[in-house]
Amino acid sequence: MNAAIYPGTFDPLTFGHLDVIERASRIFERLIVAVGVNRSKTPLFTVSERMEMVREVVQHLPHVEVDSFDGLLVEYCRRKQVHALIRGLRAFSDFEYEFQMALTNRKLAPEIETIFLMPKETHSYLSSSMVRGIAAMKGNIDDFVPRVVRDALDRRVRPYPQDDVQLNE
Ligand code: COA
Repeated sequence: MNAAIYPGTFDPLTFGHLDVIERASRIFERLIVAVGVNRSKTPLFTVSERMEMVREVVQHLPHVEVDSFDGLLVEYCRRKQVHALIRGLRAFSDFEYEFQMALTNRKLAPEIETIFLMPKETHSYLSSSMVRGIAAMKGNIDDFVPRVVRDALDRRVRPYPQDDVQLNE
């Protein structure tokens, strides 16, 4: 069966990620969305919370599974016996980081290929941290994330510490 893994931190999933998932699910017979434990980030949501949100959002896609992993991505791919990795390329600014990651993964596991998909241009500026930031300032994020994610953000985000500071305006 032709299968692929779409790894990411998904903290939280946005419409940009969903767009990549839908594109990949049209190409592959089995797609695993793998929520990673990225040790260089301090996520707002736990791995289980992120997985649960992704699961709810991909319900309409029958051959998409949601899983999590810790440690090396290529080792996870090997355990799953999957040889294709999906990454989204939003803009030129993503290229250097993605290029480095793809070549590092290729060095570690030459049998695994990274495939880049471009999300719809209307989503190409989106990022999870931007969405978290807008949500924390009580901005409208309806155009950026599915409803289940918006609700989770509404429940989770705390006002910035500056909110307690008296501004001289
Ligand atoms: N739509 C919206 N946002 C997108 C996006 C899209 N289509 N594609 C990427 N992004 C954003 C994310 O929202 C995130 O934004 P943020 O930094 O503002 O939160 C950013 O791009 C990058 O996130 P993500 O795609 O989740 O990648 P990552 O840099 O967090 O890496 C792993 C995640 C899990 C793939 C990576 O850390 C990994 O492979 N870890 C395992 C360790 C390993 O194997 N290391 C060796 C290989 S280098």
